[in-house]
Amino acid sequence: MTIRVLALRQPPPPVVTALPKDITLEVIDDPSADWQIDRPEDIRGVINFAGALSADVMDRLPNLEIISHMGVGYDGVDVQAARARGIVITHTRDVLNADVANFAFLMLLAASREYVRQDRHVRSGAWESGQTPLTWSIEGQTVGIVGLGRIGRNLAKKLEAFNVTVLYHGRSRQDVAYEFCADLEEMARRCRALVLLLPGGSDTDGLITASVIDALGPESGLINAARGSVVDQAALIAALEAGRLGWAALDVFEDEPHVPQSLRDMQNVLLSPHAASATRETRGAMFALVAENIRAHFHDGAAVTPIPECADMVQR
Ligand code: 8YV
Repeated sequence: MTIRVLALRQPPPPVVTALPKDITLEVIDDPSADWQIDRPEDIRGVINFAGALSADVMDRLPNLEIISHMGVGYDGVDVQAARARGIVITHTRDVLNADVANFAFLMLLAASREYVRQDRHVRSGAWESGQTPLTWSIEGQTVGIVGLGRIGRNLAKKLEAFNVTVLYHGRSRQDVAYEFCADLEEMARRCRALVLLLPGGSDTDGLITASVIDALGPESGLINAARGSVVDQAALIAALEAGRLGWAALDVFEDEPHVPQSLRDMQNVLLSPHAASATRETRGAMFALVAENIRAHFHDGAAVTPIPECADMVQR
């Protein structure tokens, strides 16, 4: 008997080829449009490449057992609705820790040494008229990490090699050697850079307020490799424009892929298109895990990486 699984957006070929032969995949290319499938009651799994996944979709698939979500962050998936229907959600944690942390580090180094500006300086021929201004060194600075999860701890360890003093803010104090700061504004005041690596969603929506941004100040900057939703983007733009915040390096935005022109025009801002996990190696591992969660759920009776809210639903 074949198992019918619905993919929201076309999964890349490695996901499709990694699925066992008894899985029949149906694909909805554009889940935001009005879609229909035959016998929705036979769909037992969803592979989610679409980011958001609402309770309405779950209502249309009454016998859904598992949602295998691409990405570690699942803020677009209605977790409560899934749990209420007994649907297990899995995500692609761990396999992206190193590359996302590396990208955050790249953002920090590129901002501190103004690497993009240096590149432009050479390409434009401006070097012939003089050097670029001096930059600042990350060595020995204080950096605050907001969200000391798996990725945040990976980054913290790397920062240690640069003699950086690491502070962190999050829901709770952890058993780590870094200083916990319960007061985010106070932490921002002490930091040369604030690195955001926390989950998105209603709990963290707008956490980085105008006051936190002002507490960072004109000598410091903000790195966001988490979610656009965690920052008050309008306040960020206003602070950068007024020089109340020194710089920003942003991989995520409020309304992706739309990035306000004001951000694109600023020289003290580095921008990337939500690419922190986008290496062949890490994306390959994420694709494999998306498929493995489906296989393990149907063949072994237990998915591999359920989200924390669904961990009790999976007996391994
Ligand atoms: C994903 C991410 O690759 O894992 C996450 O939460 O933000 C990225 O690394 C991206 O969301 C594409 O699915």
